[in-house]
Amino acid sequence: MKGVILAGGKGTRLYPLTKITNKHLLPIYDKPMIHYPIQTLVDAGIRDILIVTGGGYAGDFLQLLGNGRQFGLTSLNYTYQEGEGGIADALSLAEHFADGQKTCVVLGDNIIESNIADAVNDFRKQPAGAKILLKEVHDPERFGVAEIHQGHVTNIVEKPREPKTNYAVTGLYMYDATVFDKVRTLEPSARGELEITDVNNAFIREGTMSFAFLEGWWTDAGTFDSLLRAANLVSQSRTRPAC
Ligand code: G1P
Repeated sequence: MKGVILAGGKGTRLYPLTKITNKHLLPIYDKPMIHYPIQTLVDAGIRDILIVTGGGYAGDFLQLLGNGRQFGLTSLNYTYQEGEGGIADALSLAEHFADGQKTCVVLGDNIIESNIADAVNDFRKQPAGAKILLKEVHDPERFGVAEIHQGHVTNIVEKPREPKTNYAVTGLYMYDATVFDKVRTLEPSARGELEITDVNNAFIREGTMSFAFLEGWWTDAGTFDSLLRAANLVSQSRTRPAC
């Protein structure tokens, strides 16, 4: 399986920090944000990784990460998103890289505690479709929210005002190669972006979406509060004595 990290966007919710750098280069405790999703994929056994970035600071990723030697990799792949077309638009740039294989997609601002290797291995065995990882949260209105009936995800609503459940759709997604055909059918949402939630709903309608619950803590880091929370969670997990 191939790995794709989406690290573009303007990061406007973190202005003025993101006026002079890309959000994913900001620090989370003692490392730049982009280190965490790379480590997530490497820990899951995925070594062929594409970073999709954009904006004015894309060159800084090369300088920071090079060929990924600090993660035990021999090479890293990079591509550039023109404009701000949203997460699904960024994903469409990975079609050539995926080359017909399954992909594990991680949003560059999603930081997790646990190892997703089991979910990735389950998806390797899944004949087709997609798999999402859910997490129960107290503030579901900030996320894509999943409805579950009889053991299946039946619908996802992006940032609902009145969420029907507390199950946030985390920014860790697994797809077969049909994902790129699905992206091509999308229309921009009210915020003018191609939404990953619309991609996921297409798999749900097709009946090929599976899910698992993510273990350990999970946070995004795209707002001031979540950026601070991410740093605190990482710091606590570093200093917590091994038991
Ligand atoms: C995106 C997705 C949302 C998902 C979230 C996870 O939201 O659109 O469905 O729950 O990432 O971090 P964004 O942070 O781009 O608003």
